[in-house]
Amino acid sequence: MQWMIRFSGFVSAMMLMIVLAPSLQSFHPAEAIRSSSHTHIDGVTHRSWFRQAPTFRDAAGCKQIRTSADQICDPSLVHVAITLDFEYLRGSIAAVHSILQHSSCPESVFLHFLVSDTSLKTLVASTFPKLKFKVYYFEPEIVRKLISTSVRQALEQPLNYARNYLADLLEPCVRRVIYLDSDLVVVDDVSKLWSTDLGGKTIGAPEYCHANFTKYFTAGFWSNGQHSAVFSDRNPCYFNTGVMVIDLAKWRQFGYTKRIERWMEIQKTDRIYELGSLPPFLLVFAGHVAPIDHGWNQHGLGGDNVKGLGSCRDLHPGPVSLLHWSGSGKPWLRIDSKQPCPLDALWAPYDLYGL
Ligand SMILES: *[C@@H]1O[C@H](CO)[C@@H](O)[C@H](O)[C@H]1NC(C)=O
Repeated sequence: MQWMIRFSGFVSAMMLMIVLAPSLQSFHPAEAIRSSSHTHIDGVTHRSWFRQAPTFRDAAGCKQIRTSADQICDPSLVHVAITLDFEYLRGSIAAVHSILQHSSCPESVFLHFLVSDTSLKTLVASTFPKLKFKVYYFEPEIVRKLISTSVRQALEQPLNYARNYLADLLEPCVRRVIYLDSDLVVVDDVSKLWSTDLGGKTIGAPEYCHANFTKYFTAGFWSNGQHSAVFSDRNPCYFNTGVMVIDLAKWRQFGYTKRIERWMEIQKTDRIYELGSLPPFLLVFAGHVAPIDHGWNQHGLGGDNVKGLGSCRDLHPGPVSLLHWSGSGKPWLRIDSKQPCPLDALWAPYDLYGL
């Protein structure tokens, strides 16, 4: 059976390659210039580990972005936020590369990097010389005191919680942002996701109403009437927090950061869920989410959390605008270990790692 699963994955990978062929052609590896920049980490100088991405230019008809000091407030920008740390660096760089490559107006894309180490700014600038971006240092202490121990160590990385603080970190003039995880690639024009109608909701995301919502919280949560009453006036559905469109103005107005933090405080004493950064989002937003097409989060490509590296997943039926390697396996690790899953071949073209 295993080969059949692998084979069907391979077939969908090939089909997708064909579908994406025109855009893949615009990728010129020959244009990738060796980067000679240096990054300073803990006082040690490292040569940049990443090739310079090709320069992506606007198609005809794109809006001109202002070049003044307040550029970040230009209303024509498409704002994207992503975290950048050493563990997922290769994934974050590939994600940004994929966004620029498939965007018809790449010069309108503004990246907000939430970093664990400010030295990463040099790396971004040398890998994407034309990119409009800003780097924000995310103070781990903000969440460390709010986090309790959980099943998976990876979920306890403070940077996982940086998405909770976008509304506070980003400039007040930035009123909407797309938040993306670091283990995904975008294979469609990000401006389509950007122009999602949130219908008055604060966040938009693909929703999964058939998923068993009960299992995201403990029996203790459901048996505590005060806690579980939070869902009494809504029909909550699971959504993945790795791809979200956020109305930052509404978030600030209604103080959602504090609401999320309040649930994290409750978790410390009452143990109302097992996972890390996701459940507080579900508690605050599930049932109040603007639905986005599932093609914008083809999730689970990382495979099974328990079975680990060798478990490959296929795509979900329907359109494909974003491929997400959520789960325990990451494409760069599987490629390096010479045990890639068939769909990892769709991540590889965006990889800029290695000189
Ligand atoms: C949903 O999950 C809960 C907790 O894991 C379980 O008790 C329940 O039987 C599940 N419901 C369905 C319909 O599978």
